Amino acid sequence: MLDLMVVEDYEALSQKGADMVASYIVRHPTAALLVATGNTPMGLYSKLAALRTQNGLDTSDLRVFQLDEYLGIGGEDDRSLYGWMAKSFLAPLGIADGQVVRLPGDADDPQSACRAYDEQVRAASSIDLAILGLGPNGHLGFNEPPADPTCTTRVVALSEESIESNSVYWGSRARVPREALTAGMDTILNAKATILVVSGRQKREVLRRTLQGPVTPQLPASYLQRAHLTVIADRDAWGEE
Ligand code: F6R
Repeated sequence: MLDLMVVEDYEALSQKGADMVASYIVRHPTAALLVATGNTPMGLYSKLAALRTQNGLDTSDLRVFQLDEYLGIGGEDDRSLYGWMAKSFLAPLGIADGQVVRLPGDADDPQSACRAYDEQVRAASSIDLAILGLGPNGHLGFNEPPADPTCTTRVVALSEESIESNSVYWGSRARVPREALTAGMDTILNAKATILVVSGRQKREVLRRTLQGPVTPQLPASYLQRAHLTVIADRDAWGEE
């Protein structure tokens, strides 16, 4: 079930996304949210925080699941995805540590940390709302191609494309960790609702393939065709009809 919303620009995408997430939280104040980092949802998160300040959105009973993390990087490290999520989402929305299920990149036994994460997803019964960005190679979280829909939460090797696209955050390609922990495809695809935010001309081709191409492990995001999916894309990402 696909709902595609094409809006004018990144500003409108961020506002539309924030309005949708805010109204979801009002209706489901105890929801389990799966939250991406990356650049695209940052505008949505800051507008959501503004809505909370203006309208007093209650976030105190939400549970928040981290989507991915670099292997070997602890949450206190500035370069961690947890740190990014903390600055952009948790702190501005007043979400306490106890409400968060982390993917600890610096765990002694990362594989068992991944199993513990999946246990927590099961305990929540499933994710209620996933807020996702679209990888340039069609990855979701760090489920790099090929990834089939049954993949569980696990340690993965980053693809060359992801090493390249993440090098901007690390100063150079050589510094980017080669492995990561990612919520599994099964967790992502079993979310009761998903919002995918996509912005910019450089995502146009991968977005078309995601929504209109064959469903294939070579493009993990294509499995979202079978999910309860809302896509918010700006005109640059979708193109003209
Ligand atoms: C980040 C994540 C990634 C990004 C994707 C798009 O937690 O899971 O899958 O969502 O790489 O990144 P941006 O939004 O920076 O284009």
